[in-house]
Amino acid sequence: MSVEFSNPAPASAPAPLRIAALASGRGSNLQALIDAIAAGTLNARLVGVFSDRADAAALERARTAGVPCAAENPKAFASRDAYDQALFAHVDAVQPDLVVCAGYMRLIGAAAVDARPGLLINIHPSLLPRFKGLHTHRRALEEGATEHGASVHYVTADLDGGPVIAQARVPVLPGDDEAGLAARVLEREHPLLVETVRWIANGRIQLKEHSVHADGARLQAPLQLGSNNHFA
Ligand code: GRF
Repeated sequence: MSVEFSNPAPASAPAPLRIAALASGRGSNLQALIDAIAAGTLNARLVGVFSDRADAAALERARTAGVPCAAENPKAFASRDAYDQALFAHVDAVQPDLVVCAGYMRLIGAAAVDARPGLLINIHPSLLPRFKGLHTHRRALEEGATEHGASVHYVTADLDGGPVIAQARVPVLPGDDEAGLAARVLEREHPLLVETVRWIANGRIQLKEHSVHADGARLQAPLQLGSNNHFA
């Protein structure tokens, strides 16, 4: 008599999401990803950090975490497309599942973005579509906004205009100045970015036909970060 054992595969977690990051500056959002991965709360692997500035503090953070990194100087290229091609040659070489723009202060040309639909996300310090571009905190104060915050969105060729995935809201307080408001927003950016990447790593967020889908359904409004640092 032969007995057949059925040996179902153990329920296993999905493979870690391979993340590449682009960063130009201090890299605190990058650090939030590094820390969440190290803490085991984000099923991901940072496979490369790339920059337009060889002296970016973000690169030092990557090196400290043992993540390969490289920088390309835009001034060494004849055009934006030529620069993007050089930068994305590094990115493509590490075969990322996701590219996170974490304080990457340079426009990415349409050719590079359009060739990688749904691959790039960006964190922006405002409640998009309000205050695209620079100096968002100053502009929010000048306009007398009572609420401000941060957004994570898919990158398209339209600056800060791609489909918004998620937001964290921050009240503007009487007496707020630009630096104080920026600091309070930044404090919420870190959990917002980590939670968004966590949902992507868990296969819960996708870009389909130019719209964000969460758990298979088209999002009607961006996901909102709760005070518990998870989406409500
Ligand atoms: C953040 O405010 C981010 O939203 C914006 O640039 C800043 C980068 O900060 N795109 P850091 O380099 O992550 O500390």
